[in-house]
Amino acid sequence: MKKLFIIANWKSNLSTLKVQEWADRFKNNDLRFTNKEIIICPPFLFLPFIKSYISNHNLPIKLGAQDISKFDEGAYTGEVNGKQIREFADYVIIGHSERRQNFSENEEVVNQKIKQAIKFGLKPILCVQDQNFKIQEKVEIIAYEPVFAIGTNNPDTPENADLVSTKIKENNLSNYIIYGGSVNSKNVNQFTQKPNIDGVLVGNASLDPLEFFEIIKNA
Ligand code: PGA
Repeated sequence: MKKLFIIANWKSNLSTLKVQEWADRFKNNDLRFTNKEIIICPPFLFLPFIKSYISNHNLPIKLGAQDISKFDEGAYTGEVNGKQIREFADYVIIGHSERRQNFSENEEVVNQKIKQAIKFGLKPILCVQDQNFKIQEKVEIIAYEPVFAIGTNNPDTPENADLVSTKIKENNLSNYIIYGGSVNSKNVNQFTQKPNIDGVLVGNASLDPLEFFEIIKNA
């Protein structure tokens, strides 16, 4: 059985109360899957709470941040750096298309962030929109996330996602390639059963704890 990554990207959603409710409902499910790594990427603010929650309830869940500063610690108002993230998370999403579009992140910035993540022992989840790129560093996970499929209920076809994943794997040093874009509990399996897709990055559907659990189960 191949290893699968099921990653929740909460984006800029939820509140302290809602996160508590989400966790209380999610933890009641049996989360022991031998081949599935569950990773939750909440807004920075909720990382400490979820980290203690996971530890107090002994849950098989890893944490990721949604972004990382391109700088080390220092006078960079508003930034959260790799050293700080490392206290709470193992993974970090880098180069999500929403950051590229809304925060003008270009390749140079994305590369600086990958370097910072690796420097602090964080595993990058690098988001790309197609196969036309080549990165120097070895990144743990590359997520193929076509823009037309994000938040639209219009996923890419599993066949094309597998084709793109295969090309990405051929051209880059990455351990795993996953797919993201309108994944839900009904379509997840069509992606994860493809030979070159090693998991999914889930936005909207991960905000509902029961739906997210169904996604993990069906993957
Ligand atoms: P979506 O988002 O599942 O809501 O389409 C995916 C993502 O942006 O990672």
